[in-house]
Amino acid sequence: MKRLFLTGAAGHLGHRVAKFARGWDLFYSWHSSLPDKSLLGTPIHLDLCNKRDVHKTLTHIKPDVVIHTACSNRSEDSIVPAIENIVSTVVENSTRLVHVSTDMVLDGDNAPYSDNAKANPIHPYGKAKAIAEEIILANCASAVIVRTSLIYGICPLDHQTKWLVDDVKLGNKVVLFTDEIRCPIWVDTLAHSLLELADSSFHGFLNIAGPNPLNRWDFGVKLLDMLEVDLKSNILPGLQAESGLLRPRNLTLEVDKAQHLLDTPLLNVDQAIHHMRSGLSDKTIID
Ligand SMILES: NC(=O)c1ccc[n+]([C@@H]2O[C@H](COP(=O)([O-])OP(=O)(O)OC[C@H]3O[C@@H](n4cnc5c(N)ncnc54)[C@H](OP(=O)(O)O)[C@@H]3O)[C@@H](O)[C@H]2O)c1
Repeated sequence: MKRLFLTGAAGHLGHRVAKFARGWDLFYSWHSSLPDKSLLGTPIHLDLCNKRDVHKTLTHIKPDVVIHTACSNRSEDSIVPAIENIVSTVVENSTRLVHVSTDMVLDGDNAPYSDNAKANPIHPYGKAKAIAEEIILANCASAVIVRTSLIYGICPLDHQTKWLVDDVKLGNKVVLFTDEIRCPIWVDTLAHSLLELADSSFHGFLNIAGPNPLNRWDFGVKLLDMLEVDLKSNILPGLQAESGLLRPRNLTLEVDKAQHLLDTPLLNVDQAIHHMRSGLSDKTIID
């Protein structure tokens, strides 16, 4: 059985990857939050910013593949040190690396973006993730760098949707931009895709995102409707252009390559909502 080392198993995406990693000898790392106790596999407490511990752990476990989901916009400072430590060890041990990057490495002014689109981040989080991509490219030609979009799901609720639902219920004013475009992807689709890539020989950049671009308002309304949260008067459509915020405007990703390469279908938001509503198990999306 092939051995998989997964980072960020207590995170939103990492938890789902760990859930679906059947057929792998799974080791997964956690940092400050404990992962779900029902996960199969071996949990390892590890700070990815600690070079010595990362080297010692990976060299001892000798995984065939590392899927790196840890270090998101909620822990920006860890993004670069963590990838430096992971890359130096996977290169030394000839381990395959599947890295999760983000559409936020792009500027938002030149959509749609191909898989190999040049990074031009305008935001600190995007800048850190772009540096991580450069470190991988410079050192690890066999790695996969997955650029993805907003990740959503209900088991548990993703961070952004939870924030939205909480604010709507509390009566806080929430403005969702109609001029900010993303390609949201269901966490289960992405998790299955990463596991497929772990077991493939594909290398280089791959966009994995929903096939239908949506603005933040339309996306938010669909999710609130699925969760049966009433659209209250405190949730309003607005324009990012008038907000004064510096954020990429249109991050539409081309996903034809992933659609051809992967068995996992890239579901659009309506299809994913249908699956979530029906309570269909995660596996059914690829059956
Ligand atoms: N969420 C999105 O919409 C989105 C969109 C595009 C790309 N992405 C990318 O997708 C990946 C997963 O995102 P997510 O939202 O699922 O992330 P998340 O829920 O914020 O989880 C990130 C995990 O990283 C762990 N982590 C942070 N610093 C660490 C360190 N020094 N050592 C070890 N672990 C550390 C955190 O552990 P602790 O909290 O316990 O410290 C957490 O479990 C990230 O790479 C992110 O950049 C996310």
